[in-house]
This record gives sequence, structure tokens and C-alpha cells, in this order.
Amino acid sequence: MRWLAVGEAAIPEGDGWLSDQEAARAATMRFTKRRTEYRLRRLAGKRAVAAVLGRPVNPGSLASIEVLNRRGGAPYVVVDGNDAEMDVSLTDRAGWAVCLVGPEGELSGGTLGVDLEAVEPRSRGFVADYLTAYEQAYVSGQGDPGSEGWDAAANLLWSAKESALKVLRVGLRADTRSVEVTLGDYVRPDGWSPLVVHARTGDRFPGWWRRDGVFLLTLASRQLTEPPTLLAGGDDLAAGEPVHSWLDRPLAD
Ligand SMILES: CC(C)(COP(=O)(O)OP(=O)(O)OC[C@H]1O[C@@H](n2cnc3c(N)ncnc32)[C@H](O)[C@@H]1OP(=O)(O)O)[C@@H](O)C(=O)NCCC(=O)NCCS
Repeated sequence: MRWLAVGEAAIPEGDGWLSDQEAARAATMRFTKRRTEYRLRRLAGKRAVAAVLGRPVNPGSLASIEVLNRRGGAPYVVVDGNDAEMDVSLTDRAGWAVCLVGPEGELSGGTLGVDLEAVEPRSRGFVADYLTAYEQAYVSGQGDPGSEGWDAAANLLWSAKESALKVLRVGLRADTRSVEVTLGDYVRPDGWSPLVVHARTGDRFPGWWRRDGVFLLTLASRQLTEPPTLLAGGDDLAAGEPVHSWLDRPLAD
């Protein structure tokens, strides 16, 4: 598995780097936030696939790498008009996007999930409504509501759930308490720590998480793997400042 992050400042002008289908999809999005996030996730996906395939990142080359969506929303990659032999998962938060790429055959079931969150305030109500009793106890053990420990733990568990729900390809159609996160207790020298997400269905999704500056990144997959390695050609997430550029211009042109 490999990963790459990009910041909003890197989004190219115009639509020349998008395929016709991607540009048409973006054009249906009236709100700047949605359209910018869609474009940002495309950039992360295209840059990551270009790095994996050793392709250039000029607009024409990026346009030949399409990141499209299955009916339920899960992404897939088409290169030069053909389905690519790799699996991707995409996420964005506050002006930053991450793409996780894995060869399709490497993981049984062939699905990955990645989710990016910023450490932001999470209320008692959020923790009570969306986390299991075991997870609530973990968050309480990290600090009082309003503390950095509480907020980091609540965002981390939420993110790991989203990653697992992406592997299941259901997203937030599912009850977030139908999956429960257990965190490992060590940090590797490369910054990744282990986690496991147990689903009520009996499925078990091993994964990894890391803290990069204000951001928390989690991933889950069908099968235990080494943590992903960072691809060249992205931006430094650890140095990334959260951006909310759409606030000044809520409606897209
Ligand atoms: C999956 C989901 C939880 C992610 O939402 P989020 O945390 O706000 O957004 P993120 O930036 O982390 O992830 C967005 C990406 O998740 C991926 N995604 C969307 N639905 C997915 C699904 N069912 N399974 C796996 N991945 C999915 C997509 O790649 C999407 O980016 P894209 O639309 O640009 O390709 C949310 O989109 C969801 O619940 N989707 C299913 C229900 C739904 O509303 N679907 C509408 C589309 S048909």
C-alpha cells in the first residue's frame, strides 16, 4: 500500500487535468465546498496513481487517469480508458486530501478505506451518540471533554470507523456503532500505529493510524498489511494548515 497527500493550493486552474466525465460531475456541484473537495480528491487520486505508474503529472497525463465512482460512491481508477489493476480510497478534510493505493490482488476483497480528520472539538453528545460504550470509555480515559486528549481520541475513533465503513462500501449509511475500534499501544518509527476495527457482522479490519500536525489519518483494509509507504509527488501533511477557502465564496461560478 502507498499513500500521498495534497493541499488545496496545488489544485490546477481550469479543467484540462480532469477527464470529460470528471469535469461534468464537478460542474453539477453548485457549492464551492463540494466542488473544491471533489477536485482536491481527484488531484490526490491522480497524483498517487501517476506516482505508482511512473507517469508525468502534466494536465494531459492527469486527465488520462480518471478517478470515477461506483454506484454507492466507492472510487475506482480508469487509465487510458481501461480499468486499472489497483484499488484506491480517497478522503479530504479542511483543504487537504489523501489517496491510499493498493494493488487489487494484494488484499482479499480488494478494498481499502482511508479517512482524514483534523483534531477539532467533539462534544459529549457526539461521543455518546456515535461511539460504542467501549470507545466512550477510551475517550474519557484520554482527558475531560474539551481537552486535547478527549478531542484527539474522539476524532481518531470516528476516523477509523469511517475508514472501515469505506472498506465495507457502505459509508455513513451504516450505524457508526456497528463497528468498534481497538487501538494498538505503540508508535512505529515511521509514525504509524496499529488499530483493528471489529464489525458487528464478524468482519475484522486491521489498519493503521498516524498523527500529522493537526491531522489524524486512519486506514483499514481486509487483510493485515504493513503500513503504507509515502509516494513522491505530494505535499507535506504534517506541515499542513487547515484551510476553509469556500467560506468567502459559498456558491461556485
Ligand atoms: C463514505 C463517506 C462516509 C465519506 O464521507 P466524508 O467523510 O464526508 O468524506 P471523505 O472526504 O472522507 O470521503 C469522500 C470519498 O469517499 C469515497 N466514498 C464515497 N462513498 C463511498 C462508499 N460507499 N464506499 C467507499 N468509499 C466511498 C469517495 O471516493 C469519496 O470521494 P469522491 O466522491 O470524490 O470519489 C460518505 O460519502 C458516505 O457515507 N457515503 C455513502 C452514502 C452516500 O451519501 N452516498 C452518496 C453517493 S451515491
